[in-house]
Amino acid sequence: MAIQRPKGTQDIIPGTVEKWHYLEAHIRKICSEFGYQEIRTPVFESTELFQRGVGDTTDIVNKEMYTFLDKGQRSITLRPEMTASVCRAYVENKLFTQPQPVKLYYLGPMFRYENTQAGRFRQFHQFGAEVLGGEDPLVDAEVIQLIWEFYRRIGLQGLEVHINSVGCPVCRAEHRDRLHSYLQDRKAELCQDCQSRYERNPMRILDCKNRECQRITANVPTTLDTLCDSCREHFAKVQQYLRISGIQYRINPKLVRGLDYYQKTAFEVMAEGIGAQSAICGGGRYDGLVEEIGGPSTPGIGFAMGMERILAVLEKQRIDVDDETDHKVVVAALGDIAREKGFKLITELRQNGISAQMDLLGRGLKSQMKYADRVHARYVIIIGEEELNKNIAIIRDMKLGDQTEIAMDSVKSYIFNQINHSEAGI
Ligand code: HAM
Repeated sequence: MAIQRPKGTQDIIPGTVEKWHYLEAHIRKICSEFGYQEIRTPVFESTELFQRGVGDTTDIVNKEMYTFLDKGQRSITLRPEMTASVCRAYVENKLFTQPQPVKLYYLGPMFRYENTQAGRFRQFHQFGAEVLGGEDPLVDAEVIQLIWEFYRRIGLQGLEVHINSVGCPVCRAEHRDRLHSYLQDRKAELCQDCQSRYERNPMRILDCKNRECQRITANVPTTLDTLCDSCREHFAKVQQYLRISGIQYRINPKLVRGLDYYQKTAFEVMAEGIGAQSAICGGGRYDGLVEEIGGPSTPGIGFAMGMERILAVLEKQRIDVDDETDHKVVVAALGDIAREKGFKLITELRQNGISAQMDLLGRGLKSQMKYADRVHARYVIIIGEEELNKNIAIIRDMKLGDQTEIAMDSVKSYIFNQINHSEAGI
């Protein structure tokens, strides 16, 4: 039997990869405009980084990590997310000595051993950004603005930004107490996961998808009910800046996120019509994380969005993506001498930055024309026996459907002219 790819992974093949290029081009452009620089970190890290960073009460660390011992008996984990890695790199490369805040973005594969379903993979890709060294609420708003502007540019519509404040360790202690006393008598009715959350991280009960838990927690105290003055002020200011930048948001007091490092601002962007996995982006502030993994006390905030989910929304909303694979010129040549002439031509066209190719299989003229059509050639240069004898080539404009005879020596300049004109929109 033929070997198949592992469950929860995808091949990104031509025909689809152009959509990734489209997104990646937008990502690089917008990040550069907003002053973010790219960071690339290893795909695997010491397991301890995620245990300490993401938190050992989370599903990600408890159930979903690809962890193994390497040949040197070190515990290694394929990264399930990038925030912990970026913070580690910030400390390890002493980026705290650079002008603050440090604004970074990344693109790449992440790995989580999840139950697969539409929109949920075991290897998936994130575009994310992290700002380290800035505690002002303006940073929170800027990060959300970057996300919003990105979606606007790629043409996504009908998205909802949900925001919340999960407080800081001070006000969270009070929230924990209030939750405990609220749920004390009903603890046994909660699902198994929530019973353990009750002890270890009760805030996460608010996020449980179990119907019964949701019923029991319908009116529980939320973190917004217990925010300290500083967190309350911060949250109010974030909203003020969001209003200034014209971003519509919804306060969702039950949004607590699935990772332990968040403090104060937490947010998600939801999209309709792509099934249960509707969160296309998530993020928030993590002021204690850099210190947690051994660095100097540094505020941080960021987000990550699932590329596969964005592509699903693009598809759902039938948003057209430029097809940059269109090959502008295909040479259809028959016979040895014609092929040599053709090869010389495509060499010169390529040297001048024009996308050009020719038949590599020795096919007949008819199938070469079919091929040209399939690869969306704009111009086909036909050199058959008759053309060779007359020392000409036929140039067929596939878009307009007409063709011209051109002296062999002028073919190159003719193509240059045509392409320059069509690029100038003439
Ligand atoms: P997250 O919510 O775990 O946050 O993931 C962010 C986004 O990645 C999700 O909203 C979703 O679009 C996508 N995603 C997550 N898991 C999967 C999966 N199994 N299959 C497909 N897409 C998925 C984080 O990862 C944080 N590091 C975000 C962050 C950055 N917070 C602060 N800075």
